[in-house]
Amino acid sequence: MSDTNNKVLVDIKHLKEYFNVNVGFFKSKPLKAVDDVSFSIKKGETLGLVGESGCGKTTVGRTILNLYKPTAGEIWYDGKLIKTKEDIQEFRKKATMVFQDPYSSLNPRMTVSDIIAEPLDVHELYKTKEERRERILELMGYVGLNSEHASRYAHEFSGGQRQRIGIARSLAVNPEFIVCDEPVSALDVSIQAQVINMFDELQDKLGLTYLFIAHDLLVVRHISNRIAVMYLGKMVELADADEIYNHPLHPYSKSLLSAVPVPDPKIARANKRIVLSGDIPSPLNAPSGCPFRTRCDYAKPECAECMPEFKEVSKGHFVACHRTAEINT
Ligand SMILES: Nc1ncnc2c1ncn2[C@@H]1O[C@H](COP(=O)(O)OP(=O)(O)OP(=O)(O)O)[C@@H](O)[C@H]1O
Ligand code: SF4
Ligand SMILES: [Mg+2]
Repeated sequence: MSDTNNKVLVDIKHLKEYFNVNVGFFKSKPLKAVDDVSFSIKKGETLGLVGESGCGKTTVGRTILNLYKPTAGEIWYDGKLIKTKEDIQEFRKKATMVFQDPYSSLNPRMTVSDIIAEPLDVHELYKTKEERRERILELMGYVGLNSEHASRYAHEFSGGQRQRIGIARSLAVNPEFIVCDEPVSALDVSIQAQVINMFDELQDKLGLTYLFIAHDLLVVRHISNRIAVMYLGKMVELADADEIYNHPLHPYSKSLLSAVPVPDPKIARANKRIVLSGDIPSPLNAPSGCPFRTRCDYAKPECAECMPEFKEVSKGHFVACHRTAEINT
């Protein structure tokens, strides 16, 4: 987490990503993976994005980067609407993604230096062979790899080191904005903190802005300035990281937080574990009204009628729930 100024770098407005999926012979239906999501990320900021598996986190990241064409909505970057093919090409030089699985995202038959150099070659980001070599070594240095690693193959490395190679490759294009899609979930818990700290240091050194996706609130807590919570394609809460930790307002965020271990036993007792009943519904058959109503202890008939507005209830704290005031008094 670095200090941010107030300049908005990424501004997402009413983003929708619907996938057409087959539901029978010659029949298809839109799967609303992301359904009217709006948020912004300031320059130098880390926005954490959390929620259960299948709620649409990866799709948000991929759609922002235009790896999927948005079904609807606008993506603004540095004050400019990303719309035409040329806009997308320009944007791709400044924005990139780090993937979850360091095992499948790197070609095991390529050397570390070839993996890192691939984007340099594709975008012709050097003039001489020497410049290329120096840049590879610089990128390896950023992620704590040394020159002896350059000629070795990806399969020779541990998960944590492979993730470092993947990050070095992502940094090759000199990005300003990185979508980090669960970059530590596949790693041993013992090395997750090291890799998260590395993201933090790189942000300070290179002035990066992150959308940092995770299942686990513990993972994003320390690296995020603000945290957004998604449920079934919708954003249900967004606030400063400390605010979400200390005063979660949405029943779903409360349940996610109650699962996070707290070292202080007094606080742990006060925060009784809320176990959600039932599975997350399929986005193909989302409930009417509030998407969380089938699992919410506070649901009332009105919750089935319309989707609650994503409203700012105190400065910078947004919640989508019809009953925020009643539940939190
Ligand atoms: N290319 C696709 N075609 C059809 N459906 C898709 C596609 N990609 C994702 N989905 C569906 O969209 C929904 C959101 O998926 P997404 O991968 O964005 O969730 P996620 O929050 O990243 O989950 P996880 O935590 O498991 O990575 C899921 O129901 C998923 O099955
Ligand atoms: S709108 Fe209703 S169902 Fe949805 S979270 Fe609020 S109280 Fe629960
Ligand atoms: Mg995902």
